[in-house]
Amino acid sequence: MKEAFKDKFLMGVAINRSQINQANKEEIDLITSQFNALTAENDMKWMYLHPKQDEFNFEQADKLVELAAENDMFVVGHTLVWHSQLAPWVFKTAEGDTIDDAELTNRLKNHISTIVGKYKGKIEGWDVVNEALAEDGSYRKSAFFKIGGEGFIENAFRFAHEADPEAELYYNDYNLINADKRDGAIRIVKNLKSKGIKIDGVGVQAHWSLNEPSIEEIETAIEMYAATGVKVMFTELDITVLPSPWEKSTADISTRFENSPTMNPYPESLPDSVQTQLANRYADIFELFNKHSDKISRVTFWGLHDGLSWKNNFPIRGRTDYTLLFDRNMKPKKAYLAVIQTVED
Ligand code: G3I
Repeated sequence: MKEAFKDKFLMGVAINRSQINQANKEEIDLITSQFNALTAENDMKWMYLHPKQDEFNFEQADKLVELAAENDMFVVGHTLVWHSQLAPWVFKTAEGDTIDDAELTNRLKNHISTIVGKYKGKIEGWDVVNEALAEDGSYRKSAFFKIGGEGFIENAFRFAHEADPEAELYYNDYNLINADKRDGAIRIVKNLKSKGIKIDGVGVQAHWSLNEPSIEEIETAIEMYAATGVKVMFTELDITVLPSPWEKSTADISTRFENSPTMNPYPESLPDSVQTQLANRYADIFELFNKHSDKISRVTFWGLHDGLSWKNNFPIRGRTDYTLLFDRNMKPKKAYLAVIQTVED
């Protein structure tokens, strides 16, 4: 895949802890032969990298960076500032009171300068701020926002740039194709740029379904983001084939629903008709990405194969989903061939 798309954009994959530790050679071979960019699915989030105020834990991140260096892969740092998978100390003083804006700024500076500084020249792109928007395009009312206002976003990008002036800096979020949220992200980009703060890209997570969002909506968003002068990347691509308990898909991990046979229709295997639908959907998406490859710098899949996809447990636990290009036995699916075909036509 990385060969097929080498003139278009990077092809990335998110890897889990066992893969970072190279526990299964077959998985590592598949990762390094197919992809040229790596993201840690979990291990570089705040709770793991900076569990206590005076304690950083770089063990897993170091291994990921090493694996990438050995195989000439681009590394994405995911993620510096996110309201989820945080550490409990972040917003509290030693006395248990909520910190003020000045202290939040100190803590952000220490967190970001230490991590970005350590991987200067090794981690080439950072998801600096993740999921700071609500669905209507206003700011999410996270503790970061309540304490720091929109200034926390500006500070995060400033500190990241100071720590590694060469690194690419991204704003990353889900549902960024939806008009309201898209306009919110564009507002963030324009605000940063108007203040002379560097931002290089918008990461559209791309947790999508067989029908949503439409190709037209995706195309409009690509064009609108690119028009602000940033690169567009699809950072967490997966396509669920399962029924949604919501009208609109989301990746808000605070919501979960009950499992049932209606909601889990393919527990054993995926019918050919749906396999074909998935392949066609992936093909349509990559046709569009290819058309706009001058604006797109990377496409990253959120997981190596269907058995490892977070969608098996979200928004309902214990389902069997078929979101990715490799099946549970790590064999390429019809969707894989369809994706490759888009460049061979
Ligand atoms: O840390 C525990 C571990 O100790 C325990 O053994 C294990 C058993 O289940 O659970 C571990 O924690 C899990 C963690 O992943 C690491 O595997 C959590 O329960 C689980 O909820 C967590 O899920 C991750 C989720 O972020 C949490 O928000 C998913 O794997 C990961 O794919 C997902 O990724 C996010 C992106 O970072 C941002 N965008 C949305 C995307 C999907 O939510």
